[in-house]
Amino acid sequence: MRVLAARRLPGEAWEELGDVELGALDERRVDVEALIVAGDTVDESVLDLLPSLRLVASYGVGYDNVDVVACRARGVAVTNTPGVLDAATADLTFALILATRRRLVEGDTIVRTGRWATSWSESPFLGRGLAGSTLGVVGLGRIGSAVAQRARAFDMHVLSVRRTEGDLDELLGAADVVSLHVPLTQDTTGLLSRERLALLRDGATLVNTARGGVVDEPALVDELVSGRISAGLDVFVNEPHVPEALRALPNVVLTPHIGSATVETRAAMTRIVIENVLALARGEPLKTPV
Ligand code: 8YV
Repeated sequence: MRVLAARRLPGEAWEELGDVELGALDERRVDVEALIVAGDTVDESVLDLLPSLRLVASYGVGYDNVDVVACRARGVAVTNTPGVLDAATADLTFALILATRRRLVEGDTIVRTGRWATSWSESPFLGRGLAGSTLGVVGLGRIGSAVAQRARAFDMHVLSVRRTEGDLDELLGAADVVSLHVPLTQDTTGLLSRERLALLRDGATLVNTARGGVVDEPALVDELVSGRISAGLDVFVNEPHVPEALRALPNVVLTPHIGSATVETRAAMTRIVIENVLALARGEPLKTPV
């Protein structure tokens, strides 16, 4: 079976795949039956180039990069890699919460530039504690639940709404830290609109390890420039583009979409991708169809 991969994936399971073509999704290949992508867009134009395609194996739990409806219409199955990246993504979420609330990056910069900041000086360097504060989890799926579990260990109060149900507006007005864990769909695009961002409490922190498109990015930039709130952001609307205005701000911690990026997690994700491709080749049921 001919397999095309947009890139080589880390982890030893990759070797089990055998012969695989690595290449961009920009030329017609009539014999490719399985396509492996990692965040790469799979739309009608890509499907047109691969007329024999039977499977898109996507490396990641979110599959907003794949036009699943178009795939279904052509009889092409789609798989993702759920479950194995919950802890890694929840850990990064918590790293961003701690880094933002305790101003870790600002502190690091102060030390590296030969300065010092004491909490008893005239302009004290003070962050915000987690214990006793309230975390609002938007999207209580596997990753959101893992974040809530970590928050309880830090003695935080946890509020949550499932996907777009529940009273999101009330949560936004009540939480000190709001963390997003919904997939990017038609329903969640721009879920945190300008009006909703305005509901965040003064001094609140927004953390996004889900998808940039869940937030109205220009409105978020405006709120952050005003200094009213802070943010920890791992995802952006048009990656790898990060709005220029964010880079200069002290009240934002920025990471390059690394929620699942640990050695162990990425190897486990690769294994699921490979198991799905091998299942197709053997005529067995797919392991994780979406
Ligand atoms: C991947 C992710 O890095 O799982 C997801 O949804 O965002 C990440 O684990 C991304 O999908 C690119 O492969």
